[in-house]
Amino acid sequence: MMTAPAQAEEASFEATLARHDRIEPRDWMPERYRATLVRQIAQHAHSEIIGMQPEGAWITRAPSLRRKAILLAKVQDEAGHGLYLYSACETLGVSRQELTEKLIEGKQKYSSIFNYPTLSYADVGTIGWLVDGAAICNQVPLCRTSYGPYGRAMIRVCKEESFHQRQGFELLATMMRGTDAQRAMVQESVDRFWWPALMMFGPPDADSSHTAQSMAWGIKRDTNDELRQKFVDMTVPQARALGVTLPDPDLVWNDEKGGHDFTQPDWAEFRDVVSGSGPCNAQRVAHRRRAHEDGAWVREAASAFARRQQQEPQQQEAVS
Ligand SMILES: [Fe+2]
Ligand SMILES: [Fe+2]
Repeated sequence: MMTAPAQAEEASFEATLARHDRIEPRDWMPERYRATLVRQIAQHAHSEIIGMQPEGAWITRAPSLRRKAILLAKVQDEAGHGLYLYSACETLGVSRQELTEKLIEGKQKYSSIFNYPTLSYADVGTIGWLVDGAAICNQVPLCRTSYGPYGRAMIRVCKEESFHQRQGFELLATMMRGTDAQRAMVQESVDRFWWPALMMFGPPDADSSHTAQSMAWGIKRDTNDELRQKFVDMTVPQARALGVTLPDPDLVWNDEKGGHDFTQPDWAEFRDVVSGSGPCNAQRVAHRRRAHEDGAWVREAASAFARRQQQEPQQQEAVS
């Protein structure tokens, strides 16, 4: 049985959600709400950080100085997104150190899309266009999520994601105006990334264990299938403008539903990739672990410096 103060706290939490107001770090929240947020924000932060790898691999091979500058800026933005999100997660009482350890021990997940390899420079464009495009569909509703620090982080993230999507589209458009070989490279890249991009919205609603509770708490605002539909409808005219073919012969406009009909991705493949057997899972986590170990001296130096900064004013006082 609940005590009276606990009941009052729960009522105030529910009332905040009903008003579509934000829950803030010092507010009372049910333990399961906190745990759900930690899981979702951590997974999101890890995706930003692991997502730097497939594109980062092309920085040294960018075809021009201009392309290198754009790609560097984009990959650096993703590092920033990871930092905002780790900070948002820390307001729930989990440290970044702890989250990083869970990632490199394989105890927390990141988006399945980053377990696919990048095989050509066109992939940089396709990731910007389709992967950042899907991320925008997922993330714009999160600007209104019920947890304050998460929603506020998402506002800035979304502004940068729209730059990422445009740079991808612009790169592909440039290649499509180029040679036959370049056009073929773009088409081959789109053929590979289309299905994994559809998987980014998570399993179909009927199989999604978290959706109903997350929507009741105002963490999620739309279901996986609704977001996937939105993404397909947004992408079809863009593909037409680019002159690429989306690799789904059954993709057609359905007047009745006011959206496109399309083929579902291979959900068995999705489950394999999520459970660790995708083409690059082991490589991505090993790389992250190596980077974390290589960075140990920077973390030690930074904390030694911070300790000295704290001590110094007292020492100065003692001298004067
Ligand atoms: Fe991002
Ligand atoms: Fe991005």
